[in-house]
Amino acid sequence: MNDIINLEQIRRYNRVVRSWFTFTDGSKNDSLENVQKSALRIVMRYLNLTPTEVDQNQFFKMLERIGPQNSEALFSESQIHSKVWLGKTLIELKCNELDNVAILGGWYGHHPLFLRHCGVNYKQVVSFDKDSTCISDADFLNGPDLEQEFRFKAVTGDVFSLNLENYLLSLPNGNERELVFQTVICTSCEHLDLPKLLKLVPSGVLVALQGSDNKDYVGHDFAYRDLDDFKEKCNLSTLHYSGEISLGPDKRFMVVGRK
Ligand SMILES: C[S@@+](CC[C@H](N)C(=O)[O-])C[C@H]1O[C@@H](n2cnc3c(N)ncnc32)[C@H](O)[C@@H]1O
Repeated sequence: MNDIINLEQIRRYNRVVRSWFTFTDGSKNDSLENVQKSALRIVMRYLNLTPTEVDQNQFFKMLERIGPQNSEALFSESQIHSKVWLGKTLIELKCNELDNVAILGGWYGHHPLFLRHCGVNYKQVVSFDKDSTCISDADFLNGPDLEQEFRFKAVTGDVFSLNLENYLLSLPNGNERELVFQTVICTSCEHLDLPKLLKLVPSGVLVALQGSDNKDYVGHDFAYRDLDDFKEKCNLSTLHYSGEISLGPDKRFMVVGRK
């Protein structure tokens, strides 16, 4: 854990402040002092809550790129906590060497960043999201993996139309890659009809799922009553882990097992 900001981090933080000061993302033009405060809050939160210094450069560059509003959402306390919880749980379950991973509703593609923080390695990650506006940012956040023969790739698509058994990934260089996914991760289960989604996942696949009991946000059409409700909707043939954490007033549930 890092609770002291070093000189290199201050240099990167200053770059974020400079870019946010003139950033136009719909938020009101703030004073320099407020911009500094909000950037510092996110940076310190990230440094305090992440277990290692993996990809720090990429984190700072992402802040510059997506601006204050989206950075606050993406690197909120609950986002960081819940993704680190996922990574640490996979390590405890000795699932630290993953093969091909599909991330469903992957948003800004931040899951691999937190998996790497926790020491979870993978061969290939494809992050699917129906929102086409996050794809280039997700690729950007995972730039080093993208450059490594597209070891990470974000794809626009509705998860309900995916063939997870045999997926053909079209790459920007014109090549195609046939993928069988051995692992499926979805931490957006409050947005998705879980029983319907799990019908698409082949038997035996390792799944790591998170859902919330919060019904109040836009898009939370499938909030869960409690952990038992979440476990019942997951209906896995083998359960390796189930648990819950409190994030402010909300509860977040996680289940890891085999479909
Ligand atoms: C805003 S994120 C929040 C995720 C969650 N709270 C977490 O911590 O991971 C939810 C994402 O799910 C995506 N999503 C919802 N329904 C989807 C679908 N049918 N196919 C693909 N992506 C979907 C949304 O576009 C959004 O980017």
